[in-house]
Amino acid sequence: RPPTSQIEEVAILKGSNCRAKGAAPGFKVAVLGASGGIGQPLSLLMKMNPLVSVLHLYDVVNTPGVTADISHMNTGAVVRGFLGQPQLESALTGMDLVIIPAGIPRKPGMTRDDLFNINAGIVRTLCEGIAKCCPNAIVNVISNPVNSTVPIAAEVFKKAGTYDPKRLLGVTTLDVVRANTFVGEVLGLDPRDVNVPVVGGHAGVTILPLLSQVNPPCSFTSEEISYLTSRIQNGGTEVVEAKAGAGSATLSMAYAAAKFADACLRGLRGDAGIVECSYIASQVTELPFFASKVRLGRAGVEEVLPLGPLNEFERAGLEKAQGELAESIRKGVAFANK
Ligand code: NAD
Ligand code: LMR
Repeated sequence: RPPTSQIEEVAILKGSNCRAKGAAPGFKVAVLGASGGIGQPLSLLMKMNPLVSVLHLYDVVNTPGVTADISHMNTGAVVRGFLGQPQLESALTGMDLVIIPAGIPRKPGMTRDDLFNINAGIVRTLCEGIAKCCPNAIVNVISNPVNSTVPIAAEVFKKAGTYDPKRLLGVTTLDVVRANTFVGEVLGLDPRDVNVPVVGGHAGVTILPLLSQVNPPCSFTSEEISYLTSRIQNGGTEVVEAKAGAGSATLSMAYAAAKFADACLRGLRGDAGIVECSYIASQVTELPFFASKVRLGRAGVEEVLPLGPLNEFERAGLEKAQGELAESIRKGVAFANK
């Protein structure tokens, strides 16, 4: 017999409302854009995360099916679905972490900036909801162009008086995941044992892998550096072209987003030594936003780590990245304030 609470929740889409007996207390997480190519596998991975006690799945389409499906997984998190703008506030209320993969993906021939006109408005609306319903939540922005959508989110939160730069993080983990994979291939190492810092932003030349700082320490020929830099910077385009009009990276992105969300949750729990790359408000360069290594903790970003020594190739890359990043940030801020 279903529990009374479940019968009562007719407005909330069919989910699971029983937390397993003896389950450890955990965090409340919302995925906005949960029915999408990233949203579905990401929601599945968050349902498998033992740190999650409540999982809210929000989208403008198809959340009844996604929620019913994921809620049958016998893991601890209670899953609830929310459909359309009228249910956004219920989806967000009480959340500790909000992950945003809502928005349209690229097709071959497009840049991430070509998504701006549609995705900027989607991110603004969702962030207005966050400011109202869960102003203290950590926010992970996946929607492209990340170089602009994070500044948009910051402006929305500033207007609402809820902005805390420590809690707003652009997700650039896929660049690190790709870099670790491609460097692992070149070095003949297990990619899980490789860690490549990737700084700057999340589009083309703004993606700056610091191959001089790879862990474990190693060296590359100039051909390898040129191949790896280009492959990492164009990893997204490689997938867009291979999918030939059917979208962009979804599965590797869901993996990367789940990895990053898990790091944020472990930080919130108070674990020590959690370091990830992320695109955040920063004073590491003269730009107001920049991706670099950050230490995560109970407050979100507890420390922005310095870039470390760059070689000549990386300094030239940084110069190029800064010009494009400045324009993407300006565009995002102007959109939010117009
Ligand atoms: P998709 O089209 O498969 O899914 C997007 C989902 O967003 C859809 O289910 C759609 O209904 C939903 N949506 C649209 N408007 C919404 C709104 N107002 N509120 C809530 N949900 C809404 O796209 P995808 O492949 O999942 O990609 C989503 C976004 O993530 C794209 O902008 C893509 O460029 C970006 N992305 C970023 C990275 C990264 O590294 N940061 C990697 C891959 C993709
Ligand atoms: C990626 O890096 O895969 C994403 O930003 C999606 C894209 O458009 O390339």
